[in-house]
Amino acid sequence: MPVPLKVAVLISGRGSNLQALIDAFKGPDSPVRIVLVLSNKADALGLERAAKAGLKTEIIDHRAFATRDDFDIAMDREIRAAGAEFVALAGFMRLLTPQFVTTWQDRLINIHPALLPAFPGLDTHRRALNAGVRFHGATVHFVRHETDMGPIIAQAAVPVLSGDDESTLAARVLATEHKLYPLALRLIAEGRVRVEEERAIVSDEPAADGVLFNPALPQ
Ligand code: GAR
Repeated sequence: MPVPLKVAVLISGRGSNLQALIDAFKGPDSPVRIVLVLSNKADALGLERAAKAGLKTEIIDHRAFATRDDFDIAMDREIRAAGAEFVALAGFMRLLTPQFVTTWQDRLINIHPALLPAFPGLDTHRRALNAGVRFHGATVHFVRHETDMGPIIAQAAVPVLSGDDESTLAARVLATEHKLYPLALRLIAEGRVRVEEERAIVSDEPAADGVLFNPALPQ
């Protein structure tokens, strides 16, 4: 049996994406082993989810450090101490230093609630509604120095429906995130993702089929 990829998951809050990863990778034959859940917030709900799943947790409060560098060095130390070889950001709401990003280059991924490169940053659902886009969604990408940029591994699109508000749209996107993140991490753990000229190439990828229209074509 291939050796599982040892992953540290970094969170700041609710941890519903963490939960999706826990659920997807809990079997003994799983290609992924979560060896650490690290939060910068002591009250993150995700820590309870991790503890319930029997995972090792750590809290590193960013406010206890004078600089971003010091905070990231402390995180790096914990991640390595746990034996992690890969890092997945799951609602981790701190900007990482260039040093950390470089150290973990191509071993550091993020999930973002928009179809990047549209709507990097915060408030993606409100901005998508304001822009009047017909599709919105989620992206898993390798992390680079520029926020929410980097080679795109997988995306999921959802329609924006008339009558949507921020919360209905956010819920639709979040439901896809919970499928998308395990998919992307599984592909990586299976050794099927490589970066070439700053693009993520997925080998033997099952082609997405069909064309989505919104509004739908008449039946
Ligand atoms: C998710 O929607 C994730 O995509 C987003 O935060 C939420 C965390 O939810 N991440 C970002 O906005 C990062 N730029 P969760 O804690 O329930 O997984």
